[in-house]
Amino acid sequence: MGQIPSPDRRRSGLSRPFARTLAPALSRAAVFCAGLLFALGAVAADKPGKAAIASAHYLATEAGHEVLDKGGNAFDAAIAVSAALAVVEQTSSGIGGGGFWVLHRAEDGFEVMVDGREQAPAAATRDMYLDENGDVNRDLAVNGPLAAGVPGEIAALAHIAEHYGKLSLAESLAPAVRIAREGFPVYEKFHTILGWALPHIKRWPAASEAFLVDGDIPPMGHVIRLPDLAVVLERVGAEGPEVFYEGDIARQLVEGVREAGGIWTLEDMAAYEVVEREPIRTEYNGYELVTASPPSSGGVAIAEMLNILEPWPLARLDRAQRAHLIVEAMRRAYRDRALYLGDPDFFSVPVERLTSQYYADGLRAGIHPSKATPSNMLPGNDGFREGSDTTHFSILDADGNMVAATLTVNLGFGNRFMVPGTGFVLNNEMDDFSAKEGEPNAFGLIGFEANAIEPRKRPLSSMSPTFIKGPDKVGILGTPGGSRIITMVLLGILDFMDGNDPEHWVSLPRFHHQYVPDRISAEEGAFTDEELDALRAMGHDVQVSTRRWGNMHGVLWNRETGAVSAGSDPRSDAGRAIVR
Ligand code: DON
Repeated sequence: MGQIPSPDRRRSGLSRPFARTLAPALSRAAVFCAGLLFALGAVAADKPGKAAIASAHYLATEAGHEVLDKGGNAFDAAIAVSAALAVVEQTSSGIGGGGFWVLHRAEDGFEVMVDGREQAPAAATRDMYLDENGDVNRDLAVNGPLAAGVPGEIAALAHIAEHYGKLSLAESLAPAVRIAREGFPVYEKFHTILGWALPHIKRWPAASEAFLVDGDIPPMGHVIRLPDLAVVLERVGAEGPEVFYEGDIARQLVEGVREAGGIWTLEDMAAYEVVEREPIRTEYNGYELVTASPPSSGGVAIAEMLNILEPWPLARLDRAQRAHLIVEAMRRAYRDRALYLGDPDFFSVPVERLTSQYYADGLRAGIHPSKATPSNMLPGNDGFREGSDTTHFSILDADGNMVAATLTVNLGFGNRFMVPGTGFVLNNEMDDFSAKEGEPNAFGLIGFEANAIEPRKRPLSSMSPTFIKGPDKVGILGTPGGSRIITMVLLGILDFMDGNDPEHWVSLPRFHHQYVPDRISAEEGAFTDEELDALRAMGHDVQVSTRRWGNMHGVLWNRETGAVSAGSDPRSDAGRAIVR
């Protein structure tokens, strides 16, 4: 487990400078490692022979397979799935937002995280959401154009097409263009989230026109067409991402945002860069985990939690004892998230320390086997106050290329603002920054200096697209869920380790602890009454809620049997996993 090297500042061969890449150096290292592992017999020279895609919408899963059928690889399919989700699931992600795409290339073992995270505009300031009393104005922080970072998804998709795909960007975007024109029927999750966002959507005429019928939520099955979005995607395919970041779409976006009270400039758009980052790598029970690096907090927190947990025989412990230890690991990782995690280009994130076994050994020593540690007894933080939506997909192609991608506009329908004539909502990712030290954001997450707002900085994320790689089996997983993403992925990883398949990982009832508030939140069914009693007797505050969290989509390739399987979270009606 090494420290993430500082990002390589070399530009990629794009016609405009919006990509930083570390491909050549990593590629050589990856080929060497793959060769070494092969020589040791740890890597079978086999291929799955089948492709699996699991995503949050059946049209997106089908779009991915369509592109594979046309001769594309997993990376082309990832573009098709991302773009299709940007049409049919604007509740959760889109070209007005960003994300992280973790890629594994089968031919040489090269792995990279494509960071297409949103970026603060240059005019952003640390106190931009504080009112005259110094309190956070939550409306400004999440609603309307001031809440939006400069979107990264288009730059990331173009980057993936140019460097890793086999098809042109236009070919991979084609299914999404078609779906935007032909339309998609309103489904339950879309309907529900539109209901939550309705008062805010109504504030913006273009968004109202795109999603509402007579100013109200359309009925289930009503077909939503987004012809403006079809044109934007088609133009990006034909003219390249430059049209979005420097051409007339950039001008249209900047004008629309500024007219509605935002602060974007053309320079902000032109300055957007995709960054290739080395993923976080850690080991657990003989498997290698490859997961998201900063500006996501996910990988570091997952490594920290797994390092704390590894010596304990979790599979043999009684379930309340097991949950207690997992919760204590969660509590400590989220404390460190709050204190130390932020955009590594702006803040020196101590990745090596946080992911080291020494550090985990120290944390583990402070965990009482049968007593909860109150969060305010952990050192390092004196001032805090206690106080939806994103998407994940997993792809494996027949050659063994893999993609784990988690994409977002942050809350349901992002900031709900749409620039007229574009067909897509903008994100409210600025709320993932810490607007004020120790003040919770929409997910109750707190932060300090590391994640303070600064011009051109990327807000700290929890998105944790992850590969689990072993000689016998390989898993791909991730989920939306704001602050809960990291703990859901942890529980998914542990379920993989218990020998279960993707359908089990994705449907598992979940529990979560994030340091502040000092409470376990659990889905119904996560614990029996006896287990709840046992956890409470250890000093845990456990809150069981009927609310369901996450929308996990996973893929498993059993390299011993050759079986490929996939699972889509039953918590959503639209998700689909297809193996063929
Ligand atoms: O990047 C992040 O961590 C958040 N913007 C993700 C938001 C999210 O998952 C909302 N989903 N329920």
